[in-house]
Amino acid sequence: MKGKAEIVVGAQWGDEGKGRIVDVMARNADAVVRYQGGANAGHTVMTDDEKYIFHLLPSGMLYPGKTCVVGNGVVVDPEQLIKELRDLQEKGKDRARLVISKAAHVVMPYHKAIDTAEEKFRGRGHQIGTTQRGIGPCYVDKVSRIGIRIEDLANPQVLREKLQLNLEIKNLVLSRVYGETPISFDEIYDKALSWGSDLAPYMGDSSLVIHEVLGKGGRVLFEGAQGTLLDVDHGTYPYVTSSHPVSGGACIGAGIGPTRIDKVIGVAKAYCTRVGEGPFPTEETGEAGNTLRERGYEYGATTGRPRRCGWLDMVALRHSIRINDMHGIALTKLDVLQGMKEIKICYAYELNGKEFQHFPTEIATLAKVRPCYKSLRGWEEDIGDCKTFEDLPQVVREYIETIEEIGGVPVIIIGVGPKREQTILRF
Ligand code: IMP
Repeated sequence: MKGKAEIVVGAQWGDEGKGRIVDVMARNADAVVRYQGGANAGHTVMTDDEKYIFHLLPSGMLYPGKTCVVGNGVVVDPEQLIKELRDLQEKGKDRARLVISKAAHVVMPYHKAIDTAEEKFRGRGHQIGTTQRGIGPCYVDKVSRIGIRIEDLANPQVLREKLQLNLEIKNLVLSRVYGETPISFDEIYDKALSWGSDLAPYMGDSSLVIHEVLGKGGRVLFEGAQGTLLDVDHGTYPYVTSSHPVSGGACIGAGIGPTRIDKVIGVAKAYCTRVGEGPFPTEETGEAGNTLRERGYEYGATTGRPRRCGWLDMVALRHSIRINDMHGIALTKLDVLQGMKEIKICYAYELNGKEFQHFPTEIATLAKVRPCYKSLRGWEEDIGDCKTFEDLPQVVREYIETIEEIGGVPVIIIGVGPKREQTILRF
């Protein structure tokens, strides 16, 4: 029997509201899988009575009986993961079956220390604006083949050897290069052993688990973290994260072949936001940007940083549609635009008097382009109670149809408010 494999990716610079879309889609899924990133993500899920923010656990954790997988491509901060698990346990909501890939890499305290020291060293003007969760340094170790994997936490001898080697190098870097305090072996080793015993019951093979579910005709949902424009290859390098949030990342980060993927849904906000540094062609630093930030409560779920806000950028979104081979768009936070007199959509960029439609790969070019806008009428009506596309006011439908026309793919999910039920499904 052939199951179904669907991927939900961020189509912009992250924070598109993926957690909520995954939560809605998870209802019909048997397994939910995180495949990249780490505790730099913050996926917010609103239930009737509570708000949950998951940094590492898959957003399907709130559904009893689902299998939730932390794939090999994720970098796991065990302290954070254990904290999230405990929180759910205390609330009696840990009813899903959790599997953490043995091959996932562990974010160690020295990764966080190096992340912070590197940002400081780069100084103003060259900073990336990382979340300082140790993500980049952990992926560096993975690729350098000295990383510590989840399975190592359950093997005291291997852990000791790997940790000794790593600390020898890291402490030299921390103290001699960055002038920071070295980290003690005993402290980390004991901590890591206790993480190992807490996580041992969940350790498994993500690829095997996923294929078992698919083999029984089940439905597997892959949950991307961050967004396409933060992908280390396809994003706005170097202002990116160190993993592959794109749909292709699910194959590597979970252990599934590309021909097994049935559907890719890209989550895009009805406008754009970005945290951290890097070019953002449609950024609005004046009143429109402030209105979007306040109405959309655009502050980081992980770091609390205010997000930079601007109009919907269809040049960037088209790039995202192509890179991910997206079947449809999930458009979130449409209600945030209510009350704005004019709404703009960027359909092309302009540079040196020439208009073009492709997202430039070169960061210096992206920093110079000017957005070309199509202006649309805003709306005053509250759309929070609309249940179908047809319930939406004409002007709102026009906004969505413009996105479909420029993007060339349908908008199949529409978020009209923060609650679970404020979601219009068009499939
Ligand atoms: P890092 O992933 O912490 O290394 O940060 C690299 C860049 O990605 C920075 O600009 C961060 O602000 C951004 N970033 C990382 N995770 C997220 C996320 O979940 N949402 C939005 N931006 C993120």
